[in-house]
Amino acid sequence: MTDAIDWTRAADPGRRIGHCVEYHAEIGSTNDRARIALDEPGGEGLAIVAELQTAGRGRRGRTWHSPSGRNLTLSVGIRPRLQASAAGLLGAATALAVRNACRPEAALAIKWPNDLVDSDGRKVAGLLLETALVEEQLAHVVIGLGINVNWRRGQMPAEISAGATSLADLAGRDIDRIALLGRLLGALDDEIAALERGESPVERYGGASWLDGRCVVVALGEREVEGVALGIGQAGELLLQTNDGQLALAVGEVVRVRLAMASPA
Ligand code: BTN
Repeated sequence: MTDAIDWTRAADPGRRIGHCVEYHAEIGSTNDRARIALDEPGGEGLAIVAELQTAGRGRRGRTWHSPSGRNLTLSVGIRPRLQASAAGLLGAATALAVRNACRPEAALAIKWPNDLVDSDGRKVAGLLLETALVEEQLAHVVIGLGINVNWRRGQMPAEISAGATSLADLAGRDIDRIALLGRLLGALDDEIAALERGESPVERYGGASWLDGRCVVVALGEREVEGVALGIGQAGELLLQTNDGQLALAVGEVVRVRLAMASPA
């Protein structure tokens, strides 16, 4: 199903993020196009939307799969007025924007660092932030978002449906993708402006965390650490209680999760 829908209806010329929408029926990766657009007039904040990516990528070198006509697949390039040290907070602000935009359809939680999941931990959306630094400043950031909107679990390959779901599955009906995109661009615009004003998203981000109290294994490159997730630190780090003490992880990937064992009475 590739409906010829008018994505440009989600644009708002009064906004920095999503002032215009550029639509592609097929593209390699929307992140690559958003990066190139940053060097073109009006390229900052231009939302690049694609029905199908032939080289869509996820975090840690994974491929991002999303069939045409079902989901939201988009990227936006910005030149944020932020220090390099705020990169983690930008991910947190973006995750909150996705959560807020999806709220009318489903209550999502955030699985550190920036997956959006349902109450069972099934993934609904993923973010890929690609940054360029100049000295201590974030020169530009490409924010890539993939959201499972109307791709029902029953249509997903088994290896994806094992750990994923969609907004339509959670809401029990199909979702208007243009309205969702409009809300998402507005929420991103608000969150990033707040971050640039110096308002930290950490309290709200921590409050939305799905991992708290769960026993997790986090991959740090070749190494893995195990512990109980305690919460989120001031720079967006995962606070982990391990057998050797408390850790604050700025980067990493949660590779396994289980409920922490209650101590025997
Ligand atoms: C992840 O969870 O691993 C991140 C997935 C990010 C996927 C999006 S889809 C739009 C944008 N273009 C890409 O190539 N990737 C991101």
